[in-house]
Amino acid sequence: MKMIREVIFRRMREGDAPSAARMEAACSREAWSVGAFVSAVRDENALYLVAEREGQLVGCCGIWQSFEEGDICNVAVEQSCRRKGIGEAMLTELMRLAKQRGVKDFTLEVRSGNEAAIRLYEKLGFQMEGIRKGFYSNPREDALILWKRSGL
Ligand SMILES: CC(C)(COP(=O)(O)OP(=O)(O)OC[C@H]1O[C@@H](n2cnc3c(N)ncnc32)[C@H](O)[C@@H]1OP(=O)(O)O)[C@@H](O)C(=O)NCCC(=O)NCCS
Repeated sequence: MKMIREVIFRRMREGDAPSAARMEAACSREAWSVGAFVSAVRDENALYLVAEREGQLVGCCGIWQSFEEGDICNVAVEQSCRRKGIGEAMLTELMRLAKQRGVKDFTLEVRSGNEAAIRLYEKLGFQMEGIRKGFYSNPREDALILWKRSGL
């Protein structure tokens, strides 16, 4: 468990799944169901964190490990809590914990028009390595494939 100002970062529990799904639905067009979050929390290859303030879930993120690679997903911070450093601190903590489990290289996909998220990932040291044309629907949009590699 790690703290930044009044925000706590901790492992997601099954009981957080409804709040995480609700918050992600308000933030993202690729939101997961409650059941998907429950499965993720139970899966030993996944590591999910929440940001909590005064007992309320205000952020979430997760990583799926495959040997030395970690695929980050479900990154979201509640609208009223943005631009306070929560997303950056939450992802920094996620990557710190993932490194302890042996992850060396991190990757993620982001909509090409999602400037806030792209700026955040660049600040954390991610670089674009590829594009998946028309990967997203509703609206149709390219996915940028970003990596943060241990050697860099
Ligand atoms: C992307 C998101 C998680 C960022 O969370 P956040 O807590 O607001 O981010 P932080 O406050 O930690 O910002 C860290 C850095 O990211 C960049 N950043 C964040 N939001 C930004 C914005 N709206 N415009 C430009 N840069 C932004 C800045 O570099 C910022 O550093 P600074 O404040 O020192 O300039 C949040 O906007 C969100 O939940 N968006 C909707 C869901 C989403 O798009 N998720 C990503 C899917 S891939």
